[in-house]
Formats: sequence, C-alpha cells, structure tokens
Amino acid sequence: MPSEIAPVLAELRQDHRNMARLLNLLEERAEAILEEESSDLELMLDIMHYMTVYSDAVHHPKEDRLYAELCAARPDLSQGMGRVCDEHHTLSLQSVVLRDKLVEAFSGGVVRRNDIFADALRYVGSLRAHMRWEESDLFRRLDEMVDDGHSLIESSTFVQRRDPLFGATLEARFKTLFEAINA
Ligand SMILES: [Fe+2]
Ligand SMILES: [Fe+2]
Repeated sequence: MPSEIAPVLAELRQDHRNMARLLNLLEERAEAILEEESSDLELMLDIMHYMTVYSDAVHHPKEDRLYAELCAARPDLSQGMGRVCDEHHTLSLQSVVLRDKLVEAFSGGVVRRNDIFADALRYVGSLRAHMRWEESDLFRRLDEMVDDGHSLIESSTFVQRRDPLFGATLEARFKTLFEAINA
C-alpha cells in the first residue's frame, strides 16, 4: 500500500529529536559512571535497549528504504550517499556491543567502567554526527524528491513496530527511562 513520504520524514525528524534527548542523558550518565554506583548502569542499559529495539530496528531501516527510493526515482539526487547504509550498519554494531557490556556489568560481570565510558562516548559522537548529516543532506534530498512530485512510497514492508518510549503507548520496560527523561 503506498503512503505519503512527507509524514514519514516528519516522523524521522521527530525520532531524531527524541534520540538527541537520549544521547544527552547517555552522555551525562557515562560521565558520572566513573564516580558513581551501579544505578547509572540501569538507565544507560534502558537507553541502549531502546536504541537496539527502535532506532536500529525501525528508524534506520525506514531511512534505508527512503534512500533506496531516492536511488530508484532520482539517481541524480542520490550520488555519493551510500554512507547511509554503512553508517547504519556501524551504529547497530556499536549499540549492540555497548548494550551487551551494560547487560554484563548490570548482572554483576566484570566490565571496566572506563570501557563503558569510552564506548558510550564513541556511540554518542557517532550517532550525533550521523543524524546531523542526515538532516543537513539526506533529508533535504528526500524533501526535494517529494517537492518535485515523487511523494509516495510502498510502505507495507516498513517495520511496523510502534515507538515503545515516545509513542502513544509507553511500554512497561521503559517506564523508568520515561520518568528520567521527564524529570
Ligand atoms: Fe540514520
Ligand atoms: Fe536517522
């Protein structure tokens, strides 16, 4: 079933604002982790759980689909944009590594706090730079494609999972994180 692209782009931009808030919190918790006790780890783990089940599993694949649409409909606008899929792959590897380290540390395993700190800051830097590039380049090209009349996309293959944290229904798994964001 074809869907309008413009609302999809609006959702992706809203996702970026949401993720930016989570990255600020992750950075803040990562900086505190060197001095404080394990309660910080739980919030960081919640953030990275969200990144794996929503950002990596829903948001990025949607962008990959839009990029594929741009390549097919407007090859003139899609030159040199292959980094979008490469960066999604790299980000998903980084987020799983960090999440797994947090799971390990949270369940009492031996993980160096310096490692978690370094991985978290690397992830924050990568995702921030990636979102900045998408907003300043990829999304603008997609806007141009839509403005020029290619405004529909076949959306039945989009991953349909709803946002479990910022969406209409807050999943119980994310209640603590939701409260921390809104504190
Ligand atoms: Fe992306
Ligand atoms: Fe994005």
